[in-house]
Amino acid sequence: MRKKLVVGNWKMNMTRTQATAAIESLVLLVDPKTEVDVAICPPYLTIETVTRLLHQSHFRVGAQDVFWMGAGAFTGNVSASMLADAGCAFCIVGHSETRGRFGKLEVTASTIPYFSETDETVNLKIKALLYQSIHPILCVGETLDERNAEQTDAVIAAQLKGAFEGIEGAEFYNGVVAYEPVWAIGTGKTCDSAEASRVCGFIRAQLREILDADAADSIRILYGGSVKASNAKELFTMPDIDGGLVGGASLDPEEFSEVVRSA
Ligand code: PGA
Repeated sequence: MRKKLVVGNWKMNMTRTQATAAIESLVLLVDPKTEVDVAICPPYLTIETVTRLLHQSHFRVGAQDVFWMGAGAFTGNVSASMLADAGCAFCIVGHSETRGRFGKLEVTASTIPYFSETDETVNLKIKALLYQSIHPILCVGETLDERNAEQTDAVIAAQLKGAFEGIEGAEFYNGVVAYEPVWAIGTGKTCDSAEASRVCGFIRAQLREILDADAADSIRILYGGSVKASNAKELFTMPDIDGGLVGGASLDPEEFSEVVRSA
């Protein structure tokens, strides 16, 4: 039986002062005996503050991205060994925003190439994280155009295949995959729970083929995209959804604690 997992992705939000206030409220709001695993992924600069505040709690801390090289002249980047040293247990990879696939375009088109993660770099990042015993949270999902063209399953199958190239099932045992339809991220439009569950089931079937059945059954498959207190329960009771990757709603401790309670 897989334990439910709820991950808060703070994206580019929260100064250290704001993070301290948010975490102090959150630990009071979430029952310390909860059966749900909870992780917070703050921006790099806030990881240390959040890790210190959550020390001795059951919450885990994660990063939102990583660079795959071990060390060296890579200005502006952070390695998996640095994340391990900072106490990260998880790291998001392949998020649609780092892949340059935005649900609601708020950046000028000329800046999109800056967000240029590919299946190949996702694969390199996963390998670097596994080497440091950090659980990657691999995000996959289709854009609205791809959904309308009935390419959802093909897009996700290709993203999974690329991400796991050269990776054995045993290496990703107990790992995490998040189904995040790009059109549902930050838009307030949630994927219908039955459809979200169907896609999560499809992901598990793919994982059985790409990795192996044991690993596939151990992997927690989360849904992400406008998860909030009012829709979390319906999503989390679906048979193939093992929890949520929560963006906007994770910035409000009351709302996020309700989402955790729903799981
Ligand atoms: P959202 O973001 O909950 O704000 O839609 C989810 C995510 O991007 O992980």
